[in-house]
Amino acid sequence: MKNTVTSIIQSLLLTILVVSPLVTAQLEDDENPIILLSEDQSFHFELLVPLSEAITGGADINPVLTAAKNVTAGDFDSWAEVFWELANQTKAQAEDPEIAYDAINVRDTWFSTATYFRRADFYLHGDPDNPLINYFWEEQTAAFDKAMAALPVPGQRLRIPADNFTVEALWFPVSNSSDVNRPTIILGNGYDGAQEDLYHTFVVPAHARGWNAITYEGPGQPKVRRDQGLGFIPDWERVVTPVVDYLLTNQSAVVDPTRMPLLGYSFGGYFAARAAAFEPRISAVLLDGGVWDAFEAFYDVLPEEAQTLLNSGNATAFNELLDALIKNPETPTTIRWGAEQGVWSFKAKNAYDYFQLVKAYRVEEWIDRIQVPTWVADASSEGFYPNQSMRVAEALGDRATYHLFTGPSAYHCQTGSYQELNRVMHSWLNKVLG
Ligand SMILES: *[C@@H]1O[C@H](CO)[C@@H](O)[C@H](O)[C@H]1NC(C)=O
Ligand SMILES: *[C@@H]1O[C@H](CO)[C@@H](O)[C@H](O)[C@H]1NC(C)=O
Ligand SMILES: *[C@@H]1O[C@H](CO)[C@@H](O)[C@H](O)[C@H]1NC(C)=O
Ligand SMILES: *[C@@H]1O[C@H](CO)[C@@H](O)[C@H](O)[C@H]1NC(C)=O
Ligand SMILES: *[C@@H]1O[C@H](CO)[C@@H](O)[C@H](O)[C@H]1NC(C)=O
Ligand SMILES: *[C@@H]1O[C@H](CO)[C@@H](O)[C@H](O)[C@H]1NC(C)=O
Ligand SMILES: *[C@@H]1O[C@H](CO)[C@@H](O)[C@H](O)[C@H]1NC(C)=O
Repeated sequence: MKNTVTSIIQSLLLTILVVSPLVTAQLEDDENPIILLSEDQSFHFELLVPLSEAITGGADINPVLTAAKNVTAGDFDSWAEVFWELANQTKAQAEDPEIAYDAINVRDTWFSTATYFRRADFYLHGDPDNPLINYFWEEQTAAFDKAMAALPVPGQRLRIPADNFTVEALWFPVSNSSDVNRPTIILGNGYDGAQEDLYHTFVVPAHARGWNAITYEGPGQPKVRRDQGLGFIPDWERVVTPVVDYLLTNQSAVVDPTRMPLLGYSFGGYFAARAAAFEPRISAVLLDGGVWDAFEAFYDVLPEEAQTLLNSGNATAFNELLDALIKNPETPTTIRWGAEQGVWSFKAKNAYDYFQLVKAYRVEEWIDRIQVPTWVADASSEGFYPNQSMRVAEALGDRATYHLFTGPSAYHCQTGSYQELNRVMHSWLNKVLG
């Protein structure tokens, strides 16, 4: 048995290297718009995330580049260790009373501390009992809250009741004045990102343009998955409707209900589309990017033998093969991480179960119900949902505006190019909502 598995794996690795479709982790050198930060292309991409957040106060450049230098490519424990050390060092500065003498120092240092704890957590979800999963999150949450409280207009952490769970949200008014209605963007992340990341990606740029913002997390997402033990649900209007209720009742004095778009980031492109199809009070929707069929996307990156076993319905054999692939350091990191993160965030029993759950995340049956203007972002090096944005845009016809990011902005979610991302989407929002 062992030998059979070993030989299957060896032939598989060959298959992956030779014929597997491009995923972000496997872009050829000349398809990467920038110099590589790690020999491991998933690590490269995930190192670019904190650098991207640096422009809005979420990190400093050289500490991240030092981490890039120290991390052993493809080694998940090394990644956690290096970012943990960086988070510890930064936290020590945040706690130094000499440094924490004013609000600017307080928020810069705690925001960076929070980012580094979030990064430390990223690759760790293969063992759901690993105590670091909760430890890093408690640290990042506490750090982020200290930073948020030191903003000129402090952000607020909210718990919004939904039908049988609680939405975790962060409310970021742009002003303290309670008598001006302003445009307000609702921001949701995807498969792995946190709402705290959305603060750096979208809230700071929204504030600069005079907008309020609210971020939220539902089942499957970082805080709800940990605190309430819930995996993803496909009927995402159950998450967004309570957020809309909150804005229109609790914040009615400061929210302009005619300018209240919903943005979904990464796999959030599925969630936002679903919510917009069933929640008519949203005034526009932004999908970055479009997700047409999650199963198709995740299935396509599996090696052929794994696809065959999945189709055969032999769960035992499929799970054995996936386990072996995940344990093999030569398997591309995107596949190892993607399967582990998927089982964790969908709260699946195993990899086979995860692939069955993912089948519900497709938009074809109901996408036509979206009646509001829709912005669909695509990226020329999109690796996770290749070609799906175009299908979403085509299905929506003249309700959709399709935008393809290229050149230095070619990565999934425009990682590394958040200025361009925000300028393009706000120019569209300005056109459709004024
Ligand atoms: C990188 O490694 C050096 C040498 O071991 C260490 O001094 C430094 O703290 C590490 N920095 C980070 C961010 O990992
Ligand atoms: C970070 O600090 C904690 C104590 O606060 C310590 O237990 C842990 O070993 C440190 N980790 C690293 C990688 O420096
Ligand atoms: C807004 O109100 C908070 C108290 O809730 C206060 O700490 C902060 O200084 C105020 N900010 C501005 C810009 O007035
Ligand atoms: C919204 O307002 C209601 C009524 O005042 C209050 O009971 C509820 O707790 C508020 N919701 C949140 C999330 O603060
Ligand atoms: C929550 O309600 C949905 C139906 O609205 C149901 O499918 C689900 O099992 C419920 N979950 C829990 C944890 O009660
Ligand atoms: C499923 O695969 C296992 C090997 O992992 C094998 O022992 C078993 O016979 C297979 N079951 C069926 C129904 O083919
Ligand atoms: C995407 O579409 C192009 C042509 O439209 C095709 O050549 C390519 O194989 C497709 N890629 C994937 C991963 O489906």
